[in-house]
Amino acid sequence: MDKFICEGGRRLTGTIEVSGSKNAALPILAATLLADKAPCAIRGVPRLRDVLTMLDILNELGVDASFGEDGVIRTRVRNERPVTAPYKLVSTMRASVCVLGPLVAKRRQARVSLPGGCVIGVRPIDLHMKGLKALGAEIGVEHGYVIARARRLKASRIYLGGAFGSTVTGTANILMAAVLAEGQTVIENAACEPEVQDLSDFLVKMGAKIEGIGTHRLVVDGVRSLHGADHTVIPDRIEAGTFMIAAALTGGDLRVRNARADHLGALLDKFSEIGVHTSVRRNECRVRGSRRTYAPVDVTTLPYPGFPTDLQAQMMVLLSIADGISVVTEKIYPDRFMHVPELSRMGAQIRKEGPNAIIHGVGWLSGAPVMASDLRASAALILAGLVARGTTEVRRVYHVDRGYEKMDAKLRAVGANIERVVDKKLVEVAGD
Ligand code: EPZ
Repeated sequence: MDKFICEGGRRLTGTIEVSGSKNAALPILAATLLADKAPCAIRGVPRLRDVLTMLDILNELGVDASFGEDGVIRTRVRNERPVTAPYKLVSTMRASVCVLGPLVAKRRQARVSLPGGCVIGVRPIDLHMKGLKALGAEIGVEHGYVIARARRLKASRIYLGGAFGSTVTGTANILMAAVLAEGQTVIENAACEPEVQDLSDFLVKMGAKIEGIGTHRLVVDGVRSLHGADHTVIPDRIEAGTFMIAAALTGGDLRVRNARADHLGALLDKFSEIGVHTSVRRNECRVRGSRRTYAPVDVTTLPYPGFPTDLQAQMMVLLSIADGISVVTEKIYPDRFMHVPELSRMGAQIRKEGPNAIIHGVGWLSGAPVMASDLRASAALILAGLVARGTTEVRRVYHVDRGYEKMDAKLRAVGANIERVVDKKLVEVAGD
């Protein structure tokens, strides 16, 4: 397995390009199961391990799906009989569960392995199951698989509420089922993350009838069939945010291109509070970091448009070098703090109290060997390595490769001193 070696202290300057959104692409690829025999073309999809896993799942489910030489993914349904998403694939990527809704809606049956545990916390799929049941599916768990059966699904009014609010992939699953259900479905408390909006836009291009896109109330009029469609996925707001934090951390001056400022409001707001200068042009966010210290700030992760949990670890690195005490409260995954002990090894002073982390800014970090535990924690450790004095070795970076396209090469091109080396001794574990 590869690891990264970073020498900290270089300012990031120049222009960095953001890829298409992984978390938008995965449900959109699952939605291609809903098409009749006509092909779909999905553009701007990042070439990531999670995406390749989704293509494997689609192939297993009788859909020809692959990257073309032009970087576009083309899909065509070849065989509608398979209904099983096997454990060997689902266990490597939780988002595989997104095939559940389309399978039961289109093929009347689904057998999808339960994804199992995950380092960022307990991640049940009870709301996905509740929604599909409300649409008339018979659904249960047998031998580690969710088994769902239905004749044609029937519209329903569904309230998608759980202990931590709504659910992003749960909303995607139910939406993908409702578009083929008979009658009008109302999904209350739907997630309104940009990735759900992008999926809705794709479904509309396929012929679905959806009102309320971008709100917490989706109204879906079921149709009999959906056709192929051509779609470009939105830019990855989390990758953009990660690079913007990297610019701030290193006191750099970075133009983050293909970044949608309207998807990054919560981060831009925190930046203005702590003293990071930003300016926004059409498709670009420019971040000018300060050479002096930043003010501390409290951050609470919340569903969109609140501060995203997927930027919490990266933001914590920035607050670790701020001048004062910050509190980070994690409201989506209260246990998503695996990066804290690793950052402490680099000199950060962070005390964890339940879903809160209290961060005493220390001004500087020191390089150390650290271990990545999940995708965003890995990104945070790389950012810490870029600003730390001395050498940081980030192990298990295969997590990063699941969610960031060529992160090391992109950072190197704007001045970072980061190298990838192959370490054959490290073994792979299941992903998030
Ligand atoms: C999506 O996961 C993202 N994954 C995650 O990104 C992201 O962290 C998360 O949304 C929150 O924004 C993809 O889009 C592929 P949820 P998802 O269902 O949909 C609870 C990354 O780093 N819940 O919105 O699985 C759940 O435990 C990843 O790219 C239930 O209780 O998240 C959590 O506390 C990691 N029952 C909260 O809801 C359910 O049935 C939100 O989870 C479903 C969820």
